[in-house]
Amino acid sequence: MEPSATWSTQQLAEFLAAVSAFDTEDGAALGAVERAAEAMDAEVAAIVTDGAVVASVGYQEGTAPLADLKSVAFGSSRQLKVPGVGPCPAIAVALEYPPNTAFVVARIERLNREEISVLHGMAHVVAITMRMLRLVAGERALRNEQAALRRVATLVARGVDQQAVLAAVAEEIGRLAGADLVSVFQYEADGTATRVASWTERPPSPRVGESIVVGEHNWVAAVQQTGKPARNDESVTTNQVGAKFVNDFGVSASVATPIVVDGKFWGAALVSSTGEPLAPRTEERIAGFAELVATAISNAKARAELAASRARIVAASDATRRRIERDLHDGIQQRLVTLALGLSGMVDSVPSRRPDLAMQLRETERGLQELIEEVRVISRGLHPAILSQAGLAPALKSLARRSAVPVELEVQLEGRFPPTIEVAAYYIVSEALNNTVKHAGASVAQVTVGKYTGWLRIQVSDDGAGGADFRRGSGLIGLIDRVASLGGTLAISSPQGAGTTLVAELPSS
Ligand SMILES: Nc1ncnc2c1ncn2[C@@H]1O[C@H](COP(=O)(O)OP(=O)(O)OP(=O)(O)O)[C@@H](O)[C@H]1O
Ligand SMILES: [Mg+2]
Repeated sequence: MEPSATWSTQQLAEFLAAVSAFDTEDGAALGAVERAAEAMDAEVAAIVTDGAVVASVGYQEGTAPLADLKSVAFGSSRQLKVPGVGPCPAIAVALEYPPNTAFVVARIERLNREEISVLHGMAHVVAITMRMLRLVAGERALRNEQAALRRVATLVARGVDQQAVLAAVAEEIGRLAGADLVSVFQYEADGTATRVASWTERPPSPRVGESIVVGEHNWVAAVQQTGKPARNDESVTTNQVGAKFVNDFGVSASVATPIVVDGKFWGAALVSSTGEPLAPRTEERIAGFAELVATAISNAKARAELAASRARIVAASDATRRRIERDLHDGIQQRLVTLALGLSGMVDSVPSRRPDLAMQLRETERGLQELIEEVRVISRGLHPAILSQAGLAPALKSLARRSAVPVELEVQLEGRFPPTIEVAAYYIVSEALNNTVKHAGASVAQVTVGKYTGWLRIQVSDDGAGGADFRRGSGLIGLIDRVASLGGTLAISSPQGAGTTLVAELPSS
């Protein structure tokens, strides 16, 4: 191997190891430009989108010139003015992800062909890493959101009083949206609105029971008129109907979402932040809670509606998961595998006088293999192929085989069940075994699944620490909800120090 080729292999391997170690997109982007600038001895390295400089080195903080960088990234310019240096030859490589993004490098001395090909390799690594981080972050956000909705749904299902449900809703929305203040207002017939619940990150929260005149806080009127959420990102702004509305407590960004009960405007939830604008999907996220509030308030159809809304939560999360799984599996996993193969090819071609380099490459390869395994675990999530193809019994066998705690499996089943039941049963066993591995410190787990007339009974127990509590995570509450939406029951018995037993009964037809 030529010395120069060795150089590029080594740089690329180091780059891959460094960039894939970050756990946020911003971190990975900054890490990538820093590494690239260092490796190429470049004056400037930047990742640029159509509207922003995602990360850059070579400029003082906050001074990276978007227009100049964009004309290199997307225009025809091959030169960049570098502070303190003057015009330098510049080159851009498009990233496959995020969309409309390019990697820009400028150096006094023009990059040679080989360096440009290394830059392409780096761009490839950056794109894969960023895409994966986005998917993983999306999955995490979805889980948090579903868990919050389910905690509230559980309260509603238990029939706790309205006040407690409203308080829980205000808190869950506040934490999810990263807000400073959340208030739920009930609209009164006399044109006023009453604050019926509030939550704040920095107590004391505003007094519940306080009455406001709707005319003075026009956002209530605006939300009522349009029946749609309203948003402002400054202290005073106009909404879709052109009405001005003033923020609660003069904060800097807020979103108001209507609550409709039995077809009538009942009130609104107002979410405010004193700092950053609220995330783009905040309205959508709140809407799910508004629906639960409506269910808690409306007694008449409450039970049927609750079941329907729980089924929707489950269906929505299943659909999103499937999409994420597909993206992970079809896109990233395959490309990571290709990269890993390429890397092991490189190891073979390292000259014997460079054992250090071979070792480094092997280390990177190992890291990459771990990454592939992680992606595999995430993408395996919900519907393993074996479940839909071969049915519940073989799928459970494969789950048991993979478990890090030994599993005694007893499955007495014949034939197939409706897909929603099979998926639920699989999910119950999978989550219970995960919990056993993660929390129980158990020496063994037992899984017993049997069919009774009209029922499928699933029992998972371990001899571990006990103390399972569905309020502390998203897994168990997810199971409770999934089982309830199918008309089944789930019981968890987990006394401290005496193991955990989970019994689910699902209608089998
Ligand atoms: N088998 C078990 N043995 C001991 N403790 C358990 C067991 N299962 C659950 N727990 C406890 O109950 C809590 C809630 O479990 P849950 O599955 O809802 O959340 P999690 O496992 O912490 O996170 P997630 O499932 O959302 O990844 C756990 O954090 C753990 O403290
Ligand atoms: Mg869990």
